[in-house]
Amino acid sequence: MDKFIIEGGRKLEGEVTVSGSKNAALPIISSCLLAEGKSLLHNIPDVKDVQTMIKILNSMGVKTSFRKNTLEIDPSGINRFTAPYEFVSTMRGSVCLLGPLVSKYGKAVFSMPGGCVIGSRPIDLHIKGLRKLGADINQQDGNIVSSSGRLEGSTVFLGGNFGSSVLATANIMMAATLAKGETCIESAACEPEIVDLARMLKKMGAKIYGEGSHFIRIEGVRKLKGVEYGIIPDRIEACTYVLAAFLTRGNVGIRGVVPEHVFSFLDVLGDAGISMDIKNDTVWTRSAPGWKAVDITTLPFPGFPTDLQAQTMTFLAMADGVSVITEKVFPERFIHVGELNRLGASISLDGARAIIKGVDRLSGARVMASDLRASAALVLAGLVAEGRTEVSRIYHLDRGYERFEGKLRNLGAVIERVNEK
Ligand code: EPZ
Repeated sequence: MDKFIIEGGRKLEGEVTVSGSKNAALPIISSCLLAEGKSLLHNIPDVKDVQTMIKILNSMGVKTSFRKNTLEIDPSGINRFTAPYEFVSTMRGSVCLLGPLVSKYGKAVFSMPGGCVIGSRPIDLHIKGLRKLGADINQQDGNIVSSSGRLEGSTVFLGGNFGSSVLATANIMMAATLAKGETCIESAACEPEIVDLARMLKKMGAKIYGEGSHFIRIEGVRKLKGVEYGIIPDRIEACTYVLAAFLTRGNVGIRGVVPEHVFSFLDVLGDAGISMDIKNDTVWTRSAPGWKAVDITTLPFPGFPTDLQAQTMTFLAMADGVSVITEKVFPERFIHVGELNRLGASISLDGARAIIKGVDRLSGARVMASDLRASAALVLAGLVAEGRTEVSRIYHLDRGYERFEGKLRNLGAVIERVNEK
């Protein structure tokens, strides 16, 4: 297993380009299974979750070719409709294969995705939605087994106890494109990745209306065609670099930002008393001597994203004052707190709330990554901590950040990847 060794205290300077969005890539890759022919996807990040998705598709007989962030997918040879446990257990996002498999091929044997360190990862809303469209879905030996003829459009409510489900919205929207008649999704997720998926599906010939709102209407069609499509940049990666710039008191241009994807994040930074320039698709940070504590609640889009919670906690660990983060999407998503405290932070937990008392300095230590975004939070802390920080098990981070250490090194960070014996 690899680890990062980071010498803290270096100012980041220069420009960095954001890669394509991992969370747009996964459902959009799945949507290619709905097409009669080949699709060509651009701006696909070369990260482990995409590589895992490609392995699953290849195991089903789907031909792929992935070079320089362009992925070609030819579903014509598909001959298996199962997603094995060894893949699904490492990547919950593979659940978005369910919709296309059930809708286009009428069958799927899918390992129940296990829980993970950010909490239990139920898929009751996915199953409820597909059943409403007429799929016959049962649970057998830890698998979801589905068989169905052509699905029938229906009205599906996707609001759960923690808000709308992003990938359940993706699954039902994809499944509905080939269903007979009209489907209405109520309490749909509004994330930019859902809008990007809808754009891809419409280019394939789907009839979708209202994407980006809580109410999406889909009129089923008989066939969809393969297309060429470029996905949106990764808003979570972009904000991670903004935080790295401010934490190290550097001046960085982050290229490839869609401002309307990050309004809630910019709003929080404004409340913390810092500002930055946004010109076209680039955010220019200006080093700030300090920032104020702020209270944050994570919510479905357009609220503050749960995927930025850990990284922002590192930022608030160095704020002037006491901040409170309330996690409303994944109430247990605080595994990074213990490791941040090892680096000198002063954070305590009270149920789904983290109380962060700002400190003047962090000091390097050996810490362990445990989840994709928690790993990024630890790297950010290592960039600003005095001395040397070692972050182990960074395979978690490789799932969703393309060339992370290379991009940081280009900005002046002292960070290297070594193989941990
Ligand atoms: C997507 O996961 C993202 N993953 C997650 O990003 C992100 O944290 C999450 O949306 C919320 O924004 C991908 O897009 C690949 P949900 P998803 O279904 O769709 C509950 C990252 O770090 N729920 O929107 O699986 C669930 O437990 C990852 O990039 C049900 O109760 O998340 C959670 O509390 C981590 N029943 C809430 O809804 C269901 O059937 C939101 O989950 C489904 C979800």
